[in-house]
Amino acid sequence: MADQLIIFDTTLRDGEQSPGASMTREEKIRIAKQLEKMRVDVIEAGFPAASPGDFEAVKAVATTIRESTVCGLARAQFADIDRAGEAIKPAERGRIHTFIATSAIHMEKKLRMSPDQVLEQAVAAVKRARTFTDDVEFSAEDAGRSDPDFLCRVFEAVINAGARTLNVPDTVGYTMPHQFSALIHDLRTRIPNSDKAIFSVHCHNDLGLAVANSLAAVLAGARQVECTINGLGERAGNAALEEIVMAVRTRKDVFPVETRIDTTQIVPASRLVSGITGFPVQPNKAVVGANAFAHESGIHQDGVLKNRETYEIMRAEDVGWNANRLVLGKLSGRNAFRNRLTELGIELGSEAQVNSAFQRFKELADRKHEIFDEDLHALISDESMSPDTELYSLIALRAHSETGEEPQARITMRVGSLEQVQESSGSGPVDAAFKAIEKIAPSGTELQLYSVNAITSGTESQGEVTVRLSLGDRVVNGLGADTDIVVASAKAYLNALNKLHHGAAKLNPQA
Ligand code: KIV
Ligand code: ZN
Repeated sequence: MADQLIIFDTTLRDGEQSPGASMTREEKIRIAKQLEKMRVDVIEAGFPAASPGDFEAVKAVATTIRESTVCGLARAQFADIDRAGEAIKPAERGRIHTFIATSAIHMEKKLRMSPDQVLEQAVAAVKRARTFTDDVEFSAEDAGRSDPDFLCRVFEAVINAGARTLNVPDTVGYTMPHQFSALIHDLRTRIPNSDKAIFSVHCHNDLGLAVANSLAAVLAGARQVECTINGLGERAGNAALEEIVMAVRTRKDVFPVETRIDTTQIVPASRLVSGITGFPVQPNKAVVGANAFAHESGIHQDGVLKNRETYEIMRAEDVGWNANRLVLGKLSGRNAFRNRLTELGIELGSEAQVNSAFQRFKELADRKHEIFDEDLHALISDESMSPDTELYSLIALRAHSETGEEPQARITMRVGSLEQVQESSGSGPVDAAFKAIEKIAPSGTELQLYSVNAITSGTESQGEVTVRLSLGDRVVNGLGADTDIVVASAKAYLNALNKLHHGAAKLNPQA
């Protein structure tokens, strides 16, 4: 019988460490529910010591999720561990993941600690974490560049201290697959008590090898892979969950493992994460890219029509393409709308919120005949930016552009309880709208990225705009959706300003 490969998703933690990808508590809950629906084994919900907001978000995920284990990250320090222990308390199954760096460069330059001190702190951290839960994971940060002899000593000691999972991160994405698999094999054979723990890997994608390294490790006996939806994560990201899961499933002849993942939830999860974080998925991305199953050349099309296996190694429907595209329309009632939201794992707190979302749904259905699940997700994201909770909200926008004329925009927005109007010209209507907003709410920010994606196909589709703004060392992504892309752009800009306004300072665990 195949071994189980534990899928540990860290979209809500390492994924959130991508610049601008920070998520609100409600957004984390929505993603966590989708991960649970997909049957992810462990959800790393965040780093509770990072900020009060992060603590609350992990606690809320631990309160909501019943099927998956909910994990909180903690540096190997008592204060962090106690915070994580408190945050995961409501979980049905809670895990603490504690870590300390073990490479010479990190110990010397970052921690300024000797190897013996690091070992001692690792053991103390695991023992402390065990006072909160039996499920403790220990990570040797930068294991890929650590001395294997030292790693053996540390891992042996933390197993004796009560760690059940040993994580081997390639923190900087430096190792090559053959080296990484040799490292895992070496650790498993040399550590005398290695059979008392599960070996896990956590690979970064700096050289584009995160998935290859993770899979090489699985062949060497790792039985947990840490990964993220769409490969989101620090710098170049983490191993992509969808690629790991589909590789072991498609190549059962190679990998003696199976996962519990419901693969039909992969594409909906990918869309949800992309929509919430504002990180678009490149069209040629494996498994979840828009072109992943599109056959352009005549020869390929002909082959697929005769027998799909000529050019397809996976079936689009198995990863959830079209799985959730139930259509609602102008005539759909409040119940149909509400049921679909429930099926999508979206819960709106109060009746008033349902009413207001339903109202917006009707307005959208007037402009766009078929409403897909993607539209509902966008609508709900917009709904969470309500004038009651946000400093800035859009009331109205008029934009004018004509060949040979300078584009103009006039914006009416609410700032707190005040309604304000401004006009501006710009190089295009979007630029003019942003300038008009800046006249009302000068932010001093720099626009780092502006992108528009059609949420569904066809010219009737809503445009989803991502705006990335930076202010000093803070970066935020704003999102907005509308059938009119100038309106979507203004909403995205205001969403980013709101995030900047709310954003409490937050600690990066590895900084
Ligand atoms: O990349 C890394 O080393 C990490 C650890 C905290 C596991 O994210
Ligand atoms: Zn990481």
